Amino acid sequence: MPQVIPTSPETSKVSPLLDIRGLRTEFRTDRGTVRVLNDVSFSVASGEVLGLVGESGSGKSVTALSLLGLVPRPGRVTSGEAFLGGRDLMKMSHRDLSNLRGRDIGLVLQDAMTALNPVLTIGQQIGETLNRHLGLGRSQARRRAVDLLDRVGIPDPSSRVDDYPHQFSGGMRQRAMIAMALSCEPKLLIADEPTTALDVTIQAQVLDLLRNLKDEMGMSLIMITHDLGIIAGLADRVAVMYAGSIVESGPVRQVFKSPAHPYTQGLLASIPSITDTTKTELQAIPGLPPDLAALPQGCAFAPRCAQRRTRCETERPRLLPHNAGGVAACWLVNPAHEADPSHESRNNR
Ligand SMILES: Nc1ncnc2c1ncn2[C@@H]1O[C@H](COP(=O)(O)OP(=O)(O)OP(=O)(O)O)[C@@H](O)[C@H]1O
Ligand SMILES: [Mg+2]
Repeated sequence: MPQVIPTSPETSKVSPLLDIRGLRTEFRTDRGTVRVLNDVSFSVASGEVLGLVGESGSGKSVTALSLLGLVPRPGRVTSGEAFLGGRDLMKMSHRDLSNLRGRDIGLVLQDAMTALNPVLTIGQQIGETLNRHLGLGRSQARRRAVDLLDRVGIPDPSSRVDDYPHQFSGGMRQRAMIAMALSCEPKLLIADEPTTALDVTIQAQVLDLLRNLKDEMGMSLIMITHDLGIIAGLADRVAVMYAGSIVESGPVRQVFKSPAHPYTQGLLASIPSITDTTKTELQAIPGLPPDLAALPQGCAFAPRCAQRRTRCETERPRLLPHNAGGVAACWLVNPAHEADPSHESRNNR
């Protein structure tokens, strides 16, 4: 059977900054090996904002951690490639990858309080990154830290630079994390739910900040969120995750206007519309996400899918281009293709 590399159609036209193919990550647990990422494939072009969405537990954070070699034990990446500027992150040594983190790829973690070191001042923490990657001395690093804090909108940065994380508010900590992630002007910033813990006004400010910084610095951004409103306002393209796989991706406008995958259709139907005031009843997707330790044999979404056919329950669909210009993994969208061979390999393990 020919091997199909499920990259997005956009990928073939322009060389992407980041190109992820067939990423698999597993955790060994008491209940056996759980495949948390199952052939994750997507790409991000230079200067592009990619929104990565999906329900809680779908694998968004593990995707970010897998890219950067930060999956906690007993988890490990078992296969796949992730090219950044032509180099495969999955083949890099521990040391090369740790040099790359913070310098080429900035990461804003989901929980800013636990991500910051409580016994170091904000300035020391930003300074450490600057010293490590750019070799800046203490006073130079401090000046740059003040400048960065100013840039992310921390008031009175020259005195706040000496504060400890607990002296910052939640919104300020999130900004400090962004300042730290941006300190070496990375090519790519991965922001994992950077605004979830914040109130709506601060959330809007942080999003504005990310948008402006991205434009100023020309970097790419992977915005991880379960909030489709954020994606609509910020992203160029969107990738939708379900049970450890990308089930659909494409330009935001196209995916929001005519979602191809029934799961994406369900997600979009479950958010209130501000333009269509006749839509007063929200539609929840019935059922729950599957247990990753016991995924259904066919499409992982089939048990919850109102449109499922017999084939959906037995054969796993591949992520393939469709007529509207995106990619989707669904038998209804691409009825003529062959099943994903990785499905058989999983059952034969
Ligand atoms: N350290 C771990 N050990 C075992 N399983 C883990 C571990 N970390 C994550 N997982 C599992 O991996 C799956 C994906 O988790 P992940 O944190 O990536 O979800 P997420 O999409 O980021 O969810 P959320 O929206 O809640 O942040 C979940 O089923 C989770 O239970
Ligand atoms: Mg997460």
